[in-house]
Amino acid sequence: MPSSSSSSFLQHLLLFFLTFLWYFGVVNGASSSGGGVSLGNISKVGDAEYFHIYYGQTFKVIKNGIDGKSYLLIQNNSRMATRTKYCTRRIKSFVIPLLNYSIDLGYIPVSFFELLGLLGGLKGITSDMVASECVLKSYNEGEIQIVNMTDAQQLTNFAAHFSGNTVEQWTCNFVTFLPYEEDMPLQRAEWIKYLGVFSNLEARANHVYDAVKSVALYHKFYLLYTFACIVKENYMCLSKSAESKRTSFKPVVAWLEYNEGSWSFTKEAYKKKYVVDAGGENVDDSISKNTYNSSIPEDTDDFHAILCTVDIVIDETYTSNLNDYTLSTFLQNINVEDQSCFDFLTSKSVWRYDKRVRNFTTLDWLDGAVSQPQLVLADLLEAFFPTGNYNTTYMRNLAKGEGVICIDAQMCNRDSSAAMEPVLVACQ
Ligand SMILES: *[C@@H]1O[C@H](CO)[C@@H](O)[C@H](O)[C@H]1NC(C)=O
Ligand SMILES: *[C@@H]1O[C@H](CO)[C@@H](O)[C@H](O)[C@H]1NC(C)=O
Ligand SMILES: *[C@@H]1O[C@H](CO)[C@@H](O)[C@H](O)[C@H]1NC(C)=O
Ligand SMILES: *[C@@H]1O[C@H](CO)[C@@H](O)[C@H](O)[C@H]1NC(C)=O
Ligand SMILES: *[C@@H]1O[C@H](CO)[C@@H](O)[C@H](O)[C@H]1NC(C)=O
Ligand SMILES: *[C@@H]1O[C@H](CO)[C@@H](O)[C@H](O)[C@H]1NC(C)=O
Ligand SMILES: *[C@@H]1O[C@H](CO)[C@@H](O)[C@H](O)[C@H]1NC(C)=O
Repeated sequence: MPSSSSSSFLQHLLLFFLTFLWYFGVVNGASSSGGGVSLGNISKVGDAEYFHIYYGQTFKVIKNGIDGKSYLLIQNNSRMATRTKYCTRRIKSFVIPLLNYSIDLGYIPVSFFELLGLLGGLKGITSDMVASECVLKSYNEGEIQIVNMTDAQQLTNFAAHFSGNTVEQWTCNFVTFLPYEEDMPLQRAEWIKYLGVFSNLEARANHVYDAVKSVALYHKFYLLYTFACIVKENYMCLSKSAESKRTSFKPVVAWLEYNEGSWSFTKEAYKKKYVVDAGGENVDDSISKNTYNSSIPEDTDDFHAILCTVDIVIDETYTSNLNDYTLSTFLQNINVEDQSCFDFLTSKSVWRYDKRVRNFTTLDWLDGAVSQPQLVLADLLEAFFPTGNYNTTYMRNLAKGEGVICIDAQMCNRDSSAAMEPVLVACQ
């Protein structure tokens, strides 16, 4: 190797390590002088609003900004682990890595645990209503038991009980996990780091979600992709590709729900964000009021008029009978005779997010889609700018009579306790 190129290589290497040290000096303040912290041992919250992580030498503190609870996580091999135990309204302590845990399925997307490879430690669930093939498999094999949520004694059998319920927290092992509270798709997905800290799986959490930005840059330079981010990078790439897809007008998209005789447009920020990121435009808040009562003629007229401007509908209407819910059910609920102005019918663009479902009731939309928003974005791209050669994951086209996929244990194609790999969607 010519000496000039090898010395420039060394310069880059030096720069790389300086960046490295700088990064941890800033983020890890107190302990940077003590050393012992290496890349992968810490997670930095970059997008999520509602949790914070702090690192000490033998402990970590995670603070949940929604309910104000803090968790002191003590490494099992430290002296502190044997002498410190907190269980107050504000702070609870845990010895980590956790040996086992249970989760409240009504509120917790189990897919986050799967991406981290933590299903082996999952010993209790509150019901079998779960949209994960591999959790079903473990459950069928007797690895996981059903616990009675209202029986506090049962929940104390586990090192931690993860719950999305901020009200009932009577036991010392309760941990609240609240990705749904974030407003943006990527913010919700970043909660994988929250779980990672409980099992010293920061490296894995970072790998799945993102990498330290400056370090990733250097890795790229040296073609070392060890810490390449998956979810976030793929999401950003897809979103960027949406920009190039748009024609003269962006498609106008409406998330609609029919409930007790009234139609309403979504108010949820993350859904609107998805539309924007996929190159569409939301129905303007200023023209869509909250609800349209279908038994009031003026409301029906107003609703009809707005629908005439919509290119793509995402129908969120709840149904207890997915099998019998078809395009004509949707149109009956719309209840207008003249449908000639509905572009979304002409172009066959009426979608629902219930493609992956367990027993026709439990939607993977509320689980897998939360931890892998890049897949939702890819679905929306296909809905907004159809190519015909992408199979959607969560969205199905009602206008084309597309059916649901029933999730069952046989579909689990890995060892349940092995980490689930996030799906990289081809981009560009
Ligand atoms: C975390 O730090 C410990 C002790 O410094 C080290 O042995 C371990 O390999 C690190 N883990 C990762 C994933 O970097
Ligand atoms: C700490 O946890 C690790 C990983 O579960 C385990 O291998 C180790 O034996 C534990 N150490 C102590 C002192 O409990
Ligand atoms: C769950 O526990 C509560 C309180 O102990 C009890 O009243 C209830 O019957 C239990 N439910 C089931 C299904 O076992
Ligand atoms: C979970 O781990 C704890 C130790 O943290 C142990 O006492 C308990 O028996 C384990 N529970 C199950 C269901 O494996
Ligand atoms: C819709 O309007 C009908 C007739 O005015 C009324 O009886 C009904 O309560 C309204 N529904 C809602 C959800 O407001
Ligand atoms: C599916 O749901 C039905 C109705 O709620 C219930 O009776 C049935 O036991 C469920 N089947 C499974 C496999 O969970
Ligand atoms: C979509 O799924 C069908 C059925 O599983 C398969 O035959 C087809 O090759 C898939 N298409 C793409 C583009 O992956």
